[in-house]
Amino acid sequence: MSAAGAAFDTEAVQRIRAAIAGARSVAVLTGAGMSAESGIPTFRDALTGLWAKFDPQDLASIEGFRADPQRVWDWYAERRQGVCRAEPNAGHRALARWAREHPGRMCVVTQNVDDLHQRAGQPDVVRLHGDILWLQWLDECIERPACDATATAVPGRPPRCKRCGNLARPAVVWFGEMLPPAALERAEQVAASCDVMLVVGTSGAVWPAAGLAGRARRAGSTVVIVNPHDSDIDGEARFVLRGTAAQALPLLLA
Ligand code: APR
Repeated sequence: MSAAGAAFDTEAVQRIRAAIAGARSVAVLTGAGMSAESGIPTFRDALTGLWAKFDPQDLASIEGFRADPQRVWDWYAERRQGVCRAEPNAGHRALARWAREHPGRMCVVTQNVDDLHQRAGQPDVVRLHGDILWLQWLDECIERPACDATATAVPGRPPRCKRCGNLARPAVVWFGEMLPPAALERAEQVAASCDVMLVVGTSGAVWPAAGLAGRARRAGSTVVIVNPHDSDIDGEARFVLRGTAAQALPLLLA
């Protein structure tokens, strides 16, 4: 494994760039650190991470939502505003530019619920943990399938169905919930068949997303981690670049 400082080890950078240039398929697994330089807080950074200040069981579980829907709704409403104010950073833009210049060769698998990859123009994004800008019903709606939560919920904290009173909730995956099966299946297939996997801004603490790096390594892929700090999955990587997404990705994908 090669480690590089913020100034980056040039030999490691050259070898990663050569691997990317020769790759038929590049997978990119992103986490909250990908959007940190856009001003969106991560979850597990020691002082600034959301889970340093809030209990995930209260704010990111179905039990927490049922216990205090208004508190959870308001917390997500504030995060949604933060996402809408944020702009893609140099890392998002470097990925999107490379993907557009090399059609069909890059797939981004993201744990992020923001839309910054999409707004940067990234063509192929698999969303493992949902979309904070959308709503879904808390319970099976008696009006289904006619009732679409994002379109028909009446405003409120949280909004509710005007016909049956069902509550709307953010369309994100909470602790204890299944990932969307089609997204997970695609992510596993991409991990198992890529030549290079860039793992950017994730602590590797949450499964099944964290397992994708190991799956890629076992399938023979060159796994590269971009993270200013240690992650739980550094052991899966051939190269670890100790730097940020906005510093490293423009360099690796120039
Ligand atoms: N560039 C790259 N990495 C960064 C940056 C940056 N600018 N800033 C911080 N990081 C790294 C941190 O060092 C940390 O390892 O990003 C990682 C963020 O980790 P987490 O906060 O745990 O975020 P993530 O891995 O995406 O969390 C997974 O946990 O609560 C859930 O559903 C939530 O999708 C999320 C999941």
